Amino acid sequence: MNINEQKLHALLGKVVSDFGAVFQAPLILIGDSLGLYRAMRDGQPTTPAALAERTGTTERYLREWLNAHAAAGFVDYHPDHGTYSLSPEQAMLFADEGGPAFIVGAFQVATGAGAIRPALEKAFRTGEGLPWQQHDHQVFHGTERFFRSGYVANLVPNWIPSIAGAREALSRGARVADIGCGHGASTLLMAQAFPNSRFFGFDSHPASVASAQERAAAQGLSHRVHFAVAHAKDFPGTGYDLVTIFDALHDLGDPAGAAAHVRSTLQPEGAWMIVEPYADDRLEANFNAIGRAYFSASTLLCTPCSLSQEVGLALGAQAGEARLRALVTGSGFGQFRRTAQTPFHLVFEARI
Ligand SMILES: C[S@@+](CC[C@H](N)C(=O)[O-])C[C@H]1O[C@@H](n2cnc3c(N)ncnc32)[C@H](O)[C@@H]1O
Repeated sequence: MNINEQKLHALLGKVVSDFGAVFQAPLILIGDSLGLYRAMRDGQPTTPAALAERTGTTERYLREWLNAHAAAGFVDYHPDHGTYSLSPEQAMLFADEGGPAFIVGAFQVATGAGAIRPALEKAFRTGEGLPWQQHDHQVFHGTERFFRSGYVANLVPNWIPSIAGAREALSRGARVADIGCGHGASTLLMAQAFPNSRFFGFDSHPASVASAQERAAAQGLSHRVHFAVAHAKDFPGTGYDLVTIFDALHDLGDPAGAAAHVRSTLQPEGAWMIVEPYADDRLEANFNAIGRAYFSASTLLCTPCSLSQEVGLALGAQAGEARLRALVTGSGFGQFRRTAQTPFHLVFEARI
């Protein structure tokens, strides 16, 4: 075997960085749940002892935690004073829950996804699926917290206006169904922005629907936002002006069946907004940082979820526009176009 030393060292450097990243994940979740990031959000330099005092934790643990984070570039270290601080950018990622760049949820999903590894290993052998609800609860909460950031940044300001006539219809008062809504992050953001409209969120996972209902009540929106347990293929109601699906089409066992059902529930001039993870149609163009995260999530979460259901198409989280277009137009929609995109998402409009 001819070993290229340079290549070996480059690969090793990358793997060591990943090894450290895997270790960072629980540290990030600890910082989140103990309020360490929130206590540093003001950007003021702090010593480990002062931070421990403010958060009801102990100095020795925080010193180690802060050093691990400083080595990762997630906090700044000031050697002259032995203090640590959170920059505005670091604060956006780790402390600003509800902001457009909050990333903690991603680590919740990533760590939660491995919690049922023995079941996944069995599924790899048998080819059987694993229903969404079989995962650790961190997956459900993390999914909502991760995707919510992107929705906060884009849904109301960019994605709704990209769908022809949607903003006007929603402002006047429309009926909207949000399918595969999970904890209802997208449904509730739309409901807050469009007080004249009524929203119906559907998901097949009862615990997620219960969380969504609690959130709607806490935000005083229960009178015009209704969440119910329903499958994408047979959710109730007709005459919707807008049907939406956020990061869930590829999770369905029978996305074509769901598309045909969506079509039957829409007003003739209504639209279906489909938001899917960003992916290029060429497989090899997705072999990058984002594609890597999505392919990993797809292997552990999305593909098993789809395989556990009727049909079990298993589109995967990197389906790409061409396959989505074929699926949607093959299910009776006459029009399909890409209306927006971000590094994380593709947005499509489908019409009858
Ligand atoms: C990746 S999560 C996305 C959740 C939510 N839309 C969001 O963006 O936070 C996928 C969701 O699809 C739901 N789901 C999977 N199969 C479904 C089906 N056949 N019908 C309805 N919901 C389904 C899961 O329960 C899960 O909540």
